Amino acid sequence: MKTVFSGVQPSGDLHIGNYIGALKQWVQAQGSTESIFCIVDLHAITVPQDPSVLRQKVLEVAALYIASGIDPEKSHIFVQSENPNHTYLSWILNCVTPFGQLERMTQFKDKSQKYQDQTTAGLFDYPVLMAADILLYQTDEVPVGEDQKQHIELARDLAEKFNSKFGEVFKFPEAVIKKEAARIMSLQNAAVKMGKSDLNPMSRINLLDSEEEIREKIKKAVTDSGSSISRDSGSAAISNLLTIYAAFKDQTLDEAYIDLEGKSYGEFKNVLADLVVEKLSQIQKKYQEIILDEGYLRKVLDEGRDYAIAKSSQTLQQVKEKVGL
Ligand code: AQP
Repeated sequence: MKTVFSGVQPSGDLHIGNYIGALKQWVQAQGSTESIFCIVDLHAITVPQDPSVLRQKVLEVAALYIASGIDPEKSHIFVQSENPNHTYLSWILNCVTPFGQLERMTQFKDKSQKYQDQTTAGLFDYPVLMAADILLYQTDEVPVGEDQKQHIELARDLAEKFNSKFGEVFKFPEAVIKKEAARIMSLQNAAVKMGKSDLNPMSRINLLDSEEEIREKIKKAVTDSGSSISRDSGSAAISNLLTIYAAFKDQTLDEAYIDLEGKSYGEFKNVLADLVVEKLSQIQKKYQEIILDEGYLRKVLDEGRDYAIAKSSQTLQQVKEKVGL
């Protein structure tokens, strides 16, 4: 059975980009794979976080995983900081990581520009911790959005470097990036990806947005000077909205065009809003039940942590022996 590993940072409100690019793929993977899904709080603190908000967001993300369809009977869900093996392996991998390779990471370049003098060594080292997250579980597949591709290539490189220097320990993980879900763009600027940290709240639809907010954000989403859906024309902004439609409808982009060709942009936006409201209200209903049951959530996370520690300790033990620790 293949092992699948992935995670989301509890660094803000989860949005439909996280859902379409990551969570939805995870749900499809579980059952036929050994699935391990992490709430990566140690990654979140690579940029400033409010401690009490962070603690609350960890539980919120766990509840959203389950509400989105991650079944704790089929998948293991745990909090990264509750398994110290991640930071331990990360340190060892630091010692085989070329400094120059980290300097080339585009996420670091973007985020260090954004955070300027608040940029930390932790932000620079983020991809090595992510490599440790993945390699600890002898992961075969990592379902992610396009923005994480470079980091998974680094994880493969580090696995290869370690294996050739010290002897075979790590499997080489593959990024699984679904073409049509790879990069959901901002609703206000189709040139940048939808992200938690965009200062404009109209840029994204959060999984916990109210019906009014969802309708308002779709209504105000940028389009272009055209007037109706056509396969032969249409901007990146319209194709982003169509991608969201296709994902929520479980269709390919081609099928979405067949459904929608000829509809005015206004009509299309109403159909899209109805669809997103319906899907998110199902997730929100489940979420409200789960978040109120802290005992259940804690039980899921405790079981996940115990499993994660047991499995990752096997890899870490091999690593320590090879390195001479
Ligand atoms: N816009 C997106 N489209 C498709 N997939 C996406 N992912 C994130 N944004 C999109 C995927 O979601 C998973 C979790 O990523 P993250 O926690 O790093 O999410 P983020 O929203 O990108 O969070 P940040 O880094 O806190 O926000 P920004 O980018 O605004 O600075 C990953 O699999 C990711 O690919």
